[in-house]
Amino acid sequence: MRLVLLGPPGAGKGTQGVVLSKKYSIPHISTGDMLREAVKSGNTTGKKAKEYMDKGELVPDKVVNAIIVERLGQGDAKDGFILDGFPRTVPQAEMLDESLVALGIGLDLVLYFETSKNVAIMRLTGRRICPRCGANYHVKNIPPKKDGICDHCGEGLVQRKDDTEETVRRRLVVYEEQTKSLVDYYTRRGGLRRISGDMDVDEVFRILSGMFRDEKLV
Ligand code: AP5
Repeated sequence: MRLVLLGPPGAGKGTQGVVLSKKYSIPHISTGDMLREAVKSGNTTGKKAKEYMDKGELVPDKVVNAIIVERLGQGDAKDGFILDGFPRTVPQAEMLDESLVALGIGLDLVLYFETSKNVAIMRLTGRRICPRCGANYHVKNIPPKKDGICDHCGEGLVQRKDDTEETVRRRLVVYEEQTKSLVDYYTRRGGLRRISGDMDVDEVFRILSGMFRDEKLV
C-alpha cells in the first residue's frame, strides 16, 4: 500500500501515520521527522533546514526532494510506504511522480485530512513531545499519566519550537499558500480521498481502515 497523507499542520497526519504503519507493517516516512533528526545531528541538511523550520516556513524543495529520493530507495519502502508531510508543493509532487515512474510503481491513495483552523491551533499549541522516544501527547486531549513526563520512558516532555501560537499561525498561512493546491493536483490525477481530521483519533482510524478494505488495498 502506497499512501500520501495530506492536510494542514495539526490535522493528525503524524498520529495516523504511526498507527497505520504499525497495523499494516509499512514504513511511516515523515519529512518533518527526518528534518528534525537532521537538525539534531547538526549535519549540512539540518543546518540548512533549521532556519526555515523555526520560522514555520517550508524547507527548499531541493533539500527535501533529495531526502525523499534517498529514503524511497531503501529496501523497506519497496513494498509500500506512508508519506507524511511530503509532497508539500507542486514541484515536490512532480518530483515524486517522476521518481515513482522510474521505480515502476504508483500511489494507491492520497488521504486529505480536512481540518478546521481552530482545531489545528488548539492541537498544536497543546502538543507535547518526548525528546527521547518521540511519543506524542496533548495537554488536554492525550495527557500523559504524570504531568509533563513521558509514559513510555520517563523523560520530561517538551514543546516543539514551531508549536508556539505565532509560528503555528504562520505554518497555517504557508499551508494555504503553498500546499493546499495539491488537493486540486491530486483530484485531477484521481485517487484523492477526503476525511475529516476534526474527528477523534480512533474514529479517523476506523474510517481509514474501512476505506482500505473498500479499495481492496488490505
Ligand atoms: P511537520 O513535522 O511535517 O509538521 P506539520 O505538517 O506542520 O505537521 P504536524 O506534525 O504539526 O501535524 P500533523 O498533521 O502530523 O498532526 P499530529 O498527528 O502531529 O513539518 C515541520 C516543518 O518541517 C515544516 O514547517 C517545514 O519547515 C518542514 N518540512 C516538513 N516537510 C516538508 C516538506 N515536504 N517540504 C518543505 N518543508 C518541510 O497531531 C498534532 C497534535 O494533535 C498532537 O498533539 C496529537 O496528539 C493531536 N491529535 C492528532 N490527531 C488528533 C485527533 N484526531 N483528535 C485529537 N487530537 C489529535
